[in-house]
Amino acid sequence: MRAARGDFLSSAEAMRLAIAEAKKGFAHVSPNPLVGCVVLDSAGRLLSVGHHEKFGEAHAEVNAVKGLSTHELQGAQVFVTLEPCAHEGKTPSCAKMLAQLPIDQVVYGLEDPNPLVKGQGAAILKAAGITCLHYQEMATHDLKDELEELCEAFLWNFRHRGVFVALKVGCTLDSQLALSSGESKWITGEESRSEVHRLRASYDAVLVGSGTVLADDPRLDIRHPEIQKANLAVVIDPSGRLTSKRDQLALGQRELGKTLWIEGERDPAKILDRLWDEGIRSVMIEGGAQIASAFLAAGLINRLHLFRAPVLFGNQGRSFAEFFRVESMGERLTPRQIQTQNFGPDTYLTGLLRDPQTGVIYRGM
Ligand SMILES: NC(=O)c1ccc[n+]([C@@H]2O[C@H](COP(=O)([O-])OP(=O)(O)OC[C@H]3O[C@@H](n4cnc5c(N)ncnc54)[C@H](OP(=O)(O)O)[C@@H]3O)[C@@H](O)[C@H]2O)c1
Repeated sequence: MRAARGDFLSSAEAMRLAIAEAKKGFAHVSPNPLVGCVVLDSAGRLLSVGHHEKFGEAHAEVNAVKGLSTHELQGAQVFVTLEPCAHEGKTPSCAKMLAQLPIDQVVYGLEDPNPLVKGQGAAILKAAGITCLHYQEMATHDLKDELEELCEAFLWNFRHRGVFVALKVGCTLDSQLALSSGESKWITGEESRSEVHRLRASYDAVLVGSGTVLADDPRLDIRHPEIQKANLAVVIDPSGRLTSKRDQLALGQRELGKTLWIEGERDPAKILDRLWDEGIRSVMIEGGAQIASAFLAAGLINRLHLFRAPVLFGNQGRSFAEFFRVESMGERLTPRQIQTQNFGPDTYLTGLLRDPQTGVIYRGM
């Protein structure tokens, strides 16, 4: 959404603007969450915005209030997507910083799941005489899904002590991601592939199986005009089929980014434990057929990114759900919070396969 300094904003508009602002930190803040902040003056006019720009650097609240005078901040209202932090980490506590200002009110979108912060940021502000409200307490449209999506990996990491897993598939109308000959370049169009490069930047790592490396020799780096980022690629090679070939492969010669080769393991849950131990907090699986379906069958996918091209392969293709079977309608997977978009001739669909709070897989109705 667009808004200019001096515009009057409702609470919902201010929180929506804070969400849009948070997204600007995309690709640079993990393992921290994306956070955005909006400051309105005492009359409800927009004064400033800020976001968390980079891991280890200033938080959104600091960026939003810097440059504002004490006079401007008198009676101001601060809208922030996540509860202001209470603890000193790489940066000082935002709750303590805000508590020093002559502001009237802080409205936060989500409670911080970090036990070092949860409820304590709000308590610091209240103790300083500042009204501190959880957005859901005051809103007609709660924006909960939008707020949760902003920091879904961060929330999952704290709630479940596990890696957030996305599955990206580029497939045909009949859900095939390659011909049985192994040929798959290219099913989807340029616009979809550019979006995949953008998505790669929002996860700590991308992951493929040895079959994909043998078939495609992919680079798996981020080639996008607006993003400069070296990324991590993970290759699952249980029987070491690639060990002697690594130096000749594109993933063995990466200039922009590193490659983690995992041998001797094929159990998806144990692979995720290994990634967690390596400090990886979110991963996007990019195939191929066996790896994608093994993680699907294990019920370990949080978010699906499906790019469907208007082509058909018929029975000469390989499905991304190769090993994944549903025996009854009650067992079918039913992604929620579906969003769709067109990229050139392709249709993109994203949705959640697991409940972010409980981790339960969405099935049946
Ligand atoms: N359209 C797309 O989005 C897309 C994306 C990626 C790939 N592709 C296509 O997919 C094809 C490759 O698919 P693929 O199935 O051959 O390769 P894959 O899924 O990338 O790798 C298969 C290998 O993964 C290993 N593996 C690790 N854990 C496993 C598990 N739990 N279950 C089964 N295997 C496990 C096995 O290695 P071991 O043999 O050592 O046991 C297996 O041979 C290629 O044609 C590629 O072009 C398409």
